[in-house]
Amino acid sequence: MFNKRTRVKELLQQEPAGQEVTVMGWVRTFRNNQFIALNDGSTNNNIQVVLELGQFADELLKRITTSASLRVKGTIQASLGKGQKMDLKASELEILGDCDAEKYPLQPKKHSLEFLREIAHLRFRTNTFGSVFRIRHSLAFAVHKFFHEKGFVYMHTPIITASDAEGAGEMFRVTSLPFDNPPRTEEGQIDFKKDFFGKSTNLTVSGQLEGELGATAFGEIYTFGPTFRAENSNTARHLAEFWMIEPEMAFCDLEDNMNLAEEFIKYLIGFAMENNREDLEFLSQRLAEEEKQLPQDKRSELGLIEKLEFVLNNEFQRLTYTEAIEILRESNHNKKKKFQYEITGWGMDLQSEHERYLVEKHFKKPVILSNYPKEIKAFYMRQNEDGKTVAAMDILAPGIGEIVGGSQREERLDKLTERMKEMHIPEEELWWYLDTRRFGTVPHAGFGLGFERMVQFVTGMANIRDVIAFPRTPGSAEF
Ligand code: 4AD
Ligand code: MG
Repeated sequence: MFNKRTRVKELLQQEPAGQEVTVMGWVRTFRNNQFIALNDGSTNNNIQVVLELGQFADELLKRITTSASLRVKGTIQASLGKGQKMDLKASELEILGDCDAEKYPLQPKKHSLEFLREIAHLRFRTNTFGSVFRIRHSLAFAVHKFFHEKGFVYMHTPIITASDAEGAGEMFRVTSLPFDNPPRTEEGQIDFKKDFFGKSTNLTVSGQLEGELGATAFGEIYTFGPTFRAENSNTARHLAEFWMIEPEMAFCDLEDNMNLAEEFIKYLIGFAMENNREDLEFLSQRLAEEEKQLPQDKRSELGLIEKLEFVLNNEFQRLTYTEAIEILRESNHNKKKKFQYEITGWGMDLQSEHERYLVEKHFKKPVILSNYPKEIKAFYMRQNEDGKTVAAMDILAPGIGEIVGGSQREERLDKLTERMKEMHIPEEELWWYLDTRRFGTVPHAGFGLGFERMVQFVTGMANIRDVIAFPRTPGSAEF
């Protein structure tokens, strides 16, 4: 049996008492032909392997280069040196894989995040990405734990669909038709009846519509899967492929929905604080170092961990869209014409600079905005009595902007079909969705949390490309 090894993280929690162990990992550094800092990805902390002078042949020592992979057997003893509590005194050392130092692009020094993005296949071997992706894992686990404990059913909604849940037309087409000579109808249009699925299909932008079918049978469901948007947004908050969590609850109104979303976000933060303390401390330190380069007024008032604690311990600010427009209109920022997009008044869509002003400058905490004008929201949202607004809610987070989008759904068949007509959404295509309104309709609501934006919030990473393993963005699908 080969895999009889102790993980470095577990090893470092033990007391050094001469115990014999085997560790395997990648070399971070090798000093004085004697001290190897070995990392196995379980923690940013390395185990220091100590070789005795003359113990191993020079030929072998030469091959201990940065990122070579090793198997080391030895005994654990209290360290004589500063900086670590234990050493692994090697008795056997085997090189599992050599690493040509001349060709290996990662050196034991600080690299920029931009450079690391170009070598995303290797960046997990850095401390920063080690921390980020261990936290990402933890948050994903916590998503399931949270909903499982509440009795929600995890539903796998389709990746390939024929519908546009958001009605925004930002879809990637899925087809097996030949590009050079697709079949055409008599009118000369591409004939999707001849396509693989017998109709035009695309990658899903959201699992919500199918989620509603589940909620109106199980009561409460959630989805957690990849979603795709062909929007040409080259920003630090947009991906063409991102993961979304979408709970959907029957017998639930807008306020219940907001309560659940707030509880959920706080749960995820609390879970990371409890289970990823070491990685959060590392990232917090990293962020503090980075901010030292910024002018005083651009630095954050709170460190990463303090920010997370603050969010955990304070209620999110709730207000309506209408109230938000008033605040923006009356702000000095607006009066001094500092917004790039002018505040034109009620009915306008909020730009991310407006959202960030509300969250970062005005309230200085997460904000839940509700009851938006129906014109700027999707067809499925419940229409309010005023005839102008819908029961929508967005959660805005400091440093991120929109992190959650959700709503109470229009459960009244006549109101829903009326709105679909106004928005030119063909009823025939959504017959199955409308059936839920025909057969025992119920008040229901749900929301979508952008998983990468949540990981960004918890890790403090400024660019969304640095919290997903292999980002897909306009012009880029490497790896
Ligand atoms: O606001 P959105 O478009 O809402 C929906 O898709 C609804 N069907 C959700 C629901 O009610 N079940 O997207 C939800 C969240 C956003 O708040 C944002 O966090 C994230 O998904 N998101 C993106 N994240 C990364 N890159 C993109 N291009 C994103 N677009 C949306
Ligand atoms: Mg949205």
